Amino acid sequence: MRPFLIAILLIIFQNTITFSQSRQVGGPCEDCEALLDYKLLNRSPNAVDTLPGFYKNEPKIKITGTVYHRDGKTPASNVFLYIYHVDRNGLYQASDQPVGWEKRHGQYRTWLKTGSDGKFTFYTFRPAAYPRRQEPEHIHIYLKEPDTIPYYIDNYIFDSDPLLTEDEKQMQKNRGGSGIIKLKLENGIWTANRDIILGLNIPNYN
Ligand SMILES: [Fe+2]
Repeated sequence: MRPFLIAILLIIFQNTITFSQSRQVGGPCEDCEALLDYKLLNRSPNAVDTLPGFYKNEPKIKITGTVYHRDGKTPASNVFLYIYHVDRNGLYQASDQPVGWEKRHGQYRTWLKTGSDGKFTFYTFRPAAYPRRQEPEHIHIYLKEPDTIPYYIDNYIFDSDPLLTEDEKQMQKNRGGSGIIKLKLENGIWTANRDIILGLNIPNYN
């Protein structure tokens, strides 16, 4: 058997073992396993990261947050976060040599992992709306806690976005808390904070 095939089988086997021991929270999600692509890329996520394209695109944004346990007070450590969004044309555009879910999610993505204080920060640029402008501008975020499978929480959306209508606001599920952020210019970069509460409005969480 080819080494490449063996490596793929090993990854599938490892993920099967991991998932069978993990809490099945969050309901159906066809692409949440994309969170695990950091393994394919041999990446070791940190609490702070910069997405590809940050230096070439405007407007640049900085997003901070703290992940808390269900009590809303205790910081949650060792939580993996997966972030991805479209480019300035509203497209999920992959690079020339996409790895894993990059084919679907595009090249503007990264992974983070909270430390003991639960905090994280990422630098990126503000994505455009989809070309048909059928949805507000958004940044996807998925989580994986040490004992859960990967699951998604509410997208980051921008309160200054004209596409974010009252109806859209009402449609939000507030998974992990509200994803609506308000950017403020701080030290020359548009900055927003959104804290995340694990289990809040997440199906099958308990
Ligand atoms: Fe999207």
